[in-house]
Amino acid sequence: MLNGKHITLGIESSCDETAIGIVANGREMLANVISSQIDIHTEYGGVVPEIASRKHLENINAVIDKALEEAGCTIDDVDLIGVAYGPGLVGALLIGVAAAKAIAYAKDIPLVGVNHMHGHIAANYIEHLELEPPFMGLVVSGGHTNIINVKEYNTCEKLGGTRDDAAGEAFDKVARVIGLGYPGGPKVDKAAKSGNKDAVAFKRVYLENGSYDFSFSGLKTQALNYINTERQTGREINVNDLAASFQEAVVEVLVNKAVGAALEFGQKRIVMAGGVSSNSRLRELITEEAAKHGIEICVPSPILCTDNGVMIACSAYYAHLKGESSGYDMDAVPGLEF
Ligand code: KG4
Ligand code: ZN
Repeated sequence: MLNGKHITLGIESSCDETAIGIVANGREMLANVISSQIDIHTEYGGVVPEIASRKHLENINAVIDKALEEAGCTIDDVDLIGVAYGPGLVGALLIGVAAAKAIAYAKDIPLVGVNHMHGHIAANYIEHLELEPPFMGLVVSGGHTNIINVKEYNTCEKLGGTRDDAAGEAFDKVARVIGLGYPGGPKVDKAAKSGNKDAVAFKRVYLENGSYDFSFSGLKTQALNYINTERQTGREINVNDLAASFQEAVVEVLVNKAVGAALEFGQKRIVMAGGVSSNSRLRELITEEAAKHGIEICVPSPILCTDNGVMIACSAYYAHLKGESSGYDMDAVPGLEF
């Protein structure tokens, strides 16, 4: 406890960020320390799992200390430990899980394993203090693209997901193909601002009628085919136009499916989460389309869209309120479902 408030420390190490968040009473952010490994992985054009685990191990204690300092508390003030135990890279997750168990055991405080995807949604509770379930969730990250009917805190029904590449993965792959580099999402977003979204006709893939699933793997091939055709005919490729056209194809499908789901299930709010939800065009178009139906959009600030420990702490707090806890036999579950 700190000044009479319940303190949760959240640990996130599922991919390439070693992140610790500290929250008071579940919703008040006291610290958000993110140690990104992006520079190391950029050299390889993507995340190298073995390197990620090693870096988490090197960083985690220092990141915990920094977060405690930022929050103005000590480990003795912490009442609850939350940790992302999946989905993610198994070796990376295990570092966070081991650290969480060690602290919980040493300090004799409860431990809660958090589904990383529930964590992404929970990031919204920090900045939208009035937000409570139920609502429709659109979770779009480097590894996942899901439409989720959120019924209660940490209780979700998955309505659809990607059948191949995640939205963020499509951004990363197409960015590589058009020479923008890694990570692709923010670079495509920036290039697209100076491009014409109608310049290249990318096919929108909606799958069967009424399906909330996605398929983005064809976009990379479409971009490659376009580049090859243009080169063969001696025309110069306008990267900004290509970025804007590709981005529009992804965003349009995400928006139509998310708004469609909210309407079908009678939800008045769509809550976005995950790295791709910081995409400026996605934010713009979904706000526009949702407003036509009286649906409100909630989205975290970019710093809470990406992987962080605050979202894990928040999700852990609500799991703890429901009486959930994990034992010291908790394992990492790389393929954990929603
Ligand atoms: O949620 P996140 O930080 O990590 C996980 O995958 O869990 O998401 C990272 C993904 C990357 O694929 C990155 O390219 C994408 O989010 N991303 C974006 C933007 N910022 C990050 N995609 C599109 N536009 C952006 N502005
Ligand atoms: Zn994530």
